[in-house]
Amino acid sequence: MDIKKLKNLEGTLSVPGDKSISHRAVMFGSLAQGTTKISGFLEGADCLSTIRCFRKMGISVEQNGSDVLVYGKGLHGLSAPSDVLDTGNSGTTTRLISGILAGQNFSSILTGDESIQSRPMNRIITPLKEMGADITSLKNNGYAPLSIQGTQLYGIHYNSPVASAQVKSCILLAGMYADGETKVTEPVLSRNHTEIMLNYFGADVRSFGTTACISPEPVLTAREISVPGDISSAAYFIAAGLLTPNSEILLKNVGINPTRDGILKVCRQMGADITLLNENQQGEPTADLLIRTSSLHGTIIEGEIIPTLIDELPVIAIMAAFAQGKTIIRDAQELKVKESDRIAVMCENLKRMGADVTPTEDGMMIDGGKPLHGACIDSHLDHRIAMSFAVAGAICDGVLSISGGECVNISYPEFYKDLYSLSK
Ligand code: S3P
Repeated sequence: MDIKKLKNLEGTLSVPGDKSISHRAVMFGSLAQGTTKISGFLEGADCLSTIRCFRKMGISVEQNGSDVLVYGKGLHGLSAPSDVLDTGNSGTTTRLISGILAGQNFSSILTGDESIQSRPMNRIITPLKEMGADITSLKNNGYAPLSIQGTQLYGIHYNSPVASAQVKSCILLAGMYADGETKVTEPVLSRNHTEIMLNYFGADVRSFGTTACISPEPVLTAREISVPGDISSAAYFIAAGLLTPNSEILLKNVGINPTRDGILKVCRQMGADITLLNENQQGEPTADLLIRTSSLHGTIIEGEIIPTLIDELPVIAIMAAFAQGKTIIRDAQELKVKESDRIAVMCENLKRMGADVTPTEDGMMIDGGKPLHGACIDSHLDHRIAMSFAVAGAICDGVLSISGGECVNISYPEFYKDLYSLSK
């Protein structure tokens, strides 16, 4: 995929539905009684992997673009899959489904692509085993494929060493099949879509500080779900709009849940002109985001804000490379275990473009404002790396060639078209 410098960006865009919320809508809809109606569903490969897995367990799902009907069969309505469950590239599918599978009365095998088979699963295997689950990494290496023999689970209080919504959600979902209450405490609060949506379906999930607690055997009832635009997808247009001269873009109906909105805070810290319009605070909060060209300066990003912008750090690194002065990113070691090692891959590719960047154990240091130029960069088939560098390519001189750029289909199949549509 070759990206050339774009003229000013103008116009209105609705980014596709939130990936985390789309996954959960299909999963919880499958475990509810009745028909769940989803609008704004993300038709990305990751969420389609979730649909594929639930279909294999006997759930009928009708998908018509971003409109989806899930014919739920209740908490105990899944049937044994006749085949291996293929989660593709999706960490969310793999880890959340494992929690559900642990409490079934059948066995299953779960695997995904090369990237999924190198992402850490001990972070869910350990707590699930503590709950009594029979789950093993088939190659004994802590990665997928995973073999899960469903069994009776026990409620536990798990102190998670990582702030991860995938780990938290896996345990809460297993907790629905436990003999008593299940609690998870995280070091820092991660995204809370599972807690919000499970309650909406009728479960009893309580949150206090960084602890979430679920009662067993909830009766989930089918609901209507309108999925907001994904702030992680909006992030690329926030960055492009701020950095491209003479630009003004309006991003409609973006989810601004406070456990996800760190990008907005960091952009403002860097001097960005972002206005929130039409704010709606019901359920998952949303707003339209008005983005105007701004001159950005470096900043420090560390501590509790990190989980609220973890997926946006690649594009934040791009903004930092164009901003004046130094940016330091700390406490973000989780970047190493995403779809690629995002610390190494961002630094290596930014250097190819002429940036002054140094990787660290838990982040990176970027000395911004150096003139960046076109280059050949390697996406490592990581969708967020490809989209982040497409933004860089739209701003810098010369051609930016992204190998494996088609991997944007994981979370944003129409990404390049939408980017070009804003350039007048
Ligand atoms: C997600 C949680 C985050 C995030 C991922 C989606 C989710 O992962 O990076 O893209 O939907 O729960 P971790 O839980 O590993 O931090």
